Amino acid sequence: MVNQDPIVYLNGEFLPLSQAKVSVLDRGFLFGDGVYEVIPVYGGRPLRLAEHLERLGKSLSDIRMEPPLAAEEWAAIFNSLIQGGHDQQIYLQVTRGVGTRRDHAFPPGIAPTVFAMCTPIAPIPAAGVKAITVQDIRWQWCHIKAITLLANVLQRQQAVEAGCAEAIMVRDGYAIEGAASNLFAVVEGVLLTPPKGTDILPGITRDLVVEIAQANAIPLQERKISLAELNQAEEVWMTSSTREVLPIVELDGRKVGNGEPGPVWVRMNALYQRRKELLRKGL
Ligand SMILES: Cc1ncc(COP(=O)(O)O)c(C=O)c1O
Repeated sequence: MVNQDPIVYLNGEFLPLSQAKVSVLDRGFLFGDGVYEVIPVYGGRPLRLAEHLERLGKSLSDIRMEPPLAAEEWAAIFNSLIQGGHDQQIYLQVTRGVGTRRDHAFPPGIAPTVFAMCTPIAPIPAAGVKAITVQDIRWQWCHIKAITLLANVLQRQQAVEAGCAEAIMVRDGYAIEGAASNLFAVVEGVLLTPPKGTDILPGITRDLVVEIAQANAIPLQERKISLAELNQAEEVWMTSSTREVLPIVELDGRKVGNGEPGPVWVRMNALYQRRKELLRKGL
């Protein structure tokens, strides 16, 4: 049974979620001035913890903040929050902190607000999901894992209202990533994923999938995917820490391939699940 009031971490304290409160002058609340991470946990062990903490460090540095905690301190907090061996996710958020009034410029000398919680991972639909394509209306620094997610929220909602699980963003005629996921497509037998840059989030799952493809001689190119290619692709997948490698079987109301998860996905998913199993066993 899901604990409705789990213990969470807020600014040095462990307390029930229902008692964790932040000020209305917190800059996360007023401006979305902060960054976050989502880390999957299997068998009580976070997957790719070092990589997530490294990306957190980059996000903080890009928004001109110092890391509030060292890697060992984060790990100790997560160990306290992780309960049991079921699949779960750590959510952590760091905002610039609480000002004395609402002012866009950074208030000098304030302490960051640091929050973390651990919740179960929702089941992943085995038969794949539907998606729509949308115009990318986000800002130009999409490589930062910022809590400022209004465009992503609006686009995901548009997908949900169309009976779909994800919105694939299109910028200048190229499909680049989902509202909360990275994008892969199999085109003429080659697995494609857009290159890292300021227009996409450098997904930890994306990197793991690239690594698995390279280690297993699955043909892969990190290059831009035009909308025309996406529409002709044999397979389309989205990847994220909580949705793993998820096939998109219908795009804009049309079947992708034969409308079922394709053979390259079947192979990749088996390899990805094996990584999770090894982590569960502590290997
Ligand atoms: C915009 C965006 N792209 C990609 C991803 C996937 O990143 P990761 O694999 O690190 O979860 C996310 C995850 O939330 C995201 O929000």
